[in-house]
Amino acid sequence: MEYVLDRFVAEVRSAINATGNVPADLVDLQPPKANIPADLAFPSFRAARELGVTPPRLTQELAAALQFAPDSLVAEVVASGPFLNFGLNPQRLAIEVLGDITRMGDTYGHDDLGQQQTIVIDYSSPNVAKRMHVGHIRSTIIGQSLVHILRALGFAMIGDNHLGDWGKQFGVIIAAIKRYGKPTSEGEMALEALEERYVRYSNEMQLDEALDDEARHCSLRLEQGDPEARDLWQWCVETTLEANQKNYDRLGVSFEHTYGESFYESMLTDVIALALQQGIAQTDEDGAVVVPSLDNLPSFLLQRSDGGTLYMTRDLATVLFRVEQFRPVRLIYVVGSQQELHFRQLTALVKALAIAPEIELIHVGFGTIFDAQGQPLSTRRGNMIYLQHLLDDAVARARKIVETKNDELSEEEKDRVAEQVGIGAVIYNDLYQDSRRNITLDWERMLATEGNSATYLQYSHARCCSILRRAGAGDPRVTDAATLSLLTQGTEQQLIKHLARLPEAIREAGQRYAPFVIADWCYTTARAFGVFFEQCPVLKADSPSLRDARLTLVAATAQALKNGLHLLGIQSPERM
Ligand code: ARG
Repeated sequence: MEYVLDRFVAEVRSAINATGNVPADLVDLQPPKANIPADLAFPSFRAARELGVTPPRLTQELAAALQFAPDSLVAEVVASGPFLNFGLNPQRLAIEVLGDITRMGDTYGHDDLGQQQTIVIDYSSPNVAKRMHVGHIRSTIIGQSLVHILRALGFAMIGDNHLGDWGKQFGVIIAAIKRYGKPTSEGEMALEALEERYVRYSNEMQLDEALDDEARHCSLRLEQGDPEARDLWQWCVETTLEANQKNYDRLGVSFEHTYGESFYESMLTDVIALALQQGIAQTDEDGAVVVPSLDNLPSFLLQRSDGGTLYMTRDLATVLFRVEQFRPVRLIYVVGSQQELHFRQLTALVKALAIAPEIELIHVGFGTIFDAQGQPLSTRRGNMIYLQHLLDDAVARARKIVETKNDELSEEEKDRVAEQVGIGAVIYNDLYQDSRRNITLDWERMLATEGNSATYLQYSHARCCSILRRAGAGDPRVTDAATLSLLTQGTEQQLIKHLARLPEAIREAGQRYAPFVIADWCYTTARAFGVFFEQCPVLKADSPSLRDARLTLVAATAQALKNGLHLLGIQSPERM
């Protein structure tokens, strides 16, 4: 899809081509340096060298030869030494950007780059019989944002919650339930009780061999499909899914599938056989199936000597299944950076087996969360944070802020806004910077109404809405060119340029798997709005048409901010 800035670049390019002075492959256009008052630059060094002239000479010749139509998006051409700088036509920019946003609404910024190609994205993926910890929280939030971003770019997205619902630990869990009874609590409390039973059994098992045998026995019975073991396992899966669903609903997270590791159980024999048959894996003297070093990575197992399979075996089967079932162009894994080696090994294995040569495996890793004192969160330290508590805590704090900021809202509205603000703060804290960096839980900053926080962005949006409400009488947006052409002041133009960049920000975020690019866009746009609003009276503008034009700009800002926040998974309340 082509947006205004794409058309601007295309116009510059074709005008340069039309002069015949520079071969097309030497026309490399770039954003100008920060202090240059232009919108696009042609640094002419390479072209000048190839053509055997000096750069300033080339830019001067070009500036003299370039021709643009009177209503072109390009209003200004300035040769500045080796750079040829281009400026946007302010009227055309205002007309086109505000026109696009008014027309496209919620889809402004979307693209058709993905051409309906399928991407499978594996995210959240918590473990059964446990509460989601911070790693899963981050995966859930980053993954859902990537789903929104890539979907906006036109990819067909398939989200799969790869539950950790299989493996040796289930023998212990089942034995523990049989020994200490099924928890009677519900939701995350039930999961907490299951965690306690697991730890207690594991500890007792160290001292009592009979318990160890019993756990192994349970694991075997589960694998053989014993009804009692199956029932208990099923109950664990359902209890976990039910508890997690509450959190997913609050976070606006939904998956196309939740197959889980157990789903692949019946495919594992074939997968192991395939690796052996292709000579990629070997059976060692103890009967274990080993994949020796691939791409200089450490060797790893596909099957233990006791016949048990591993996380890796199930991940390999999962790749095969996804390739067959969905014919994707890409498989994305949103999993903590601690598992980087695992995914490098998996990628190397998939490559060695030539399962899907044209499919890319991408591991989007992320850092961990530290508490406000800078300590890593851990169960042992006792500062672990679980998702439901985190969300409840955030919402309770947000409720206090809403209380002080706005007393016109009904209690019910306050509750709803508090939920949106609290959840928004948690999400934004995960997304506002490069995901690979560690994050800190610092409520002051997360819920600040100024500075780079979701709350500030939501306020900026709500402020736009409040201006529009005060203007009265329905949708104030206009699209006629004469009115929109009035928006030529510096701060108006700055804001419009930010709005024009949303499509580009979405593309970049998709290419880099980087929601923070959208977060940055939201923040700089909200700031540009703040400056505009300080300097340009809207409701009290000098003339009715200027008032209309500025109201349209305010409406477009609200719309674009809402679109940006939506891509992060954050809601935009109209009143706060
Ligand atoms: N359940 C795993 C864990 O908690 C994450 C699974 C990630 N996805 C995958 N296909 N391996 O560590």
